[in-house]
Amino acid sequence: MLPNKRPENMDRITTLELANKFISEQIALVREQVGDKKVLLALSGGVDSSVVAALLIKAIGKNLVCVHVNHGLMRKGESEEVVEVFKNQLDANLIYIDATDRFLNLLEGVSEPERKRKIIGGEFIKVFDEEASKLSGISYLAQGTIYPDIIESDGVKAHHNVGGLPKDMEFELVEPVRLLFKDEVRVVGRALGLPSSMVDRQPFPGPGLGVRCLGAITRDRLHALRESDAILREEFDKAGLTSQIWQFFTVVPDFRTTGVKNGKRAYDWPVIIRAVNTVDAMVCTVPEISYTVLKKVTDRILHEVDGVCRVLYDLSPKPSATIEWE
Ligand code: XMP
Repeated sequence: MLPNKRPENMDRITTLELANKFISEQIALVREQVGDKKVLLALSGGVDSSVVAALLIKAIGKNLVCVHVNHGLMRKGESEEVVEVFKNQLDANLIYIDATDRFLNLLEGVSEPERKRKIIGGEFIKVFDEEASKLSGISYLAQGTIYPDIIESDGVKAHHNVGGLPKDMEFELVEPVRLLFKDEVRVVGRALGLPSSMVDRQPFPGPGLGVRCLGAITRDRLHALRESDAILREEFDKAGLTSQIWQFFTVVPDFRTTGVKNGKRAYDWPVIIRAVNTVDAMVCTVPEISYTVLKKVTDRILHEVDGVCRVLYDLSPKPSATIEWE
């Protein structure tokens, strides 16, 4: 088992060589810990759980059982990428659960942000728990706990009520990256051959698009949000902004605005572009994005996304505003 505290003489993992050394050591430690027993992992597709999955697949192959719960609030293409990388490329023992309807039905009419978060977090635990109880012979639970989780919280991987796992699961934990900082986890992910779209992914909240589809979530606004977010990501990527901006996404409010489409008066949704730079997410600035890029994103959203007639760029730093809109 790994200690709780990072040893003072532990090398910072900055190179692929150091990452490969770390990977070999962890493979040996995990094999020693779990032997030929089965290990369960909730694989969200985020950096930490993806790196743990890739590492454990190397260590114990099919004895790692990954469960990916699609709560219907993922970004465009995200769940598909998890299946493509882990099932098709890495041959993982992956259970994919599309729980979209379950989550969206529960969230219907719920507009209060913290209640939305609690519902998403609570349902995630339920779905995972149900799936785990169908499996037999599981002895261990793997988690993508990283060092800041240990320093900043009680060591449980749970942010803002989402992403936590059932408290009553009586499994011993396997947490191979628990002494690493985020930048080290990314280097290890690269050494394991994970794609940059996974390893260099920007932070994505556990409740996902649920907190960006403001107020009570509706399927039409969720669709507009997912499509506009995909356009934003594509255009920022083309403009070389992906690695320069810490976090960016779109938001769809729960009020309509007047517009004109095809010569007729429209009453459609606005889309807000949010982009921030920060070191620690506590204080953020808003990057100056070229007008050409903003205009391209705006034009594409207005032409390609149904039900949207207006696009705005949020210029508010943190403080006064938070990064997310709710
Ligand atoms: P705020 O909006 O508080 O966001 O300035 C700071 C960082 O936290 C992320 N965030 C969340 N992450 N569950 C998460 O896992 C949440 O409910 C949640 N709310 C905000 C946000 O994306 C940003 O990176």
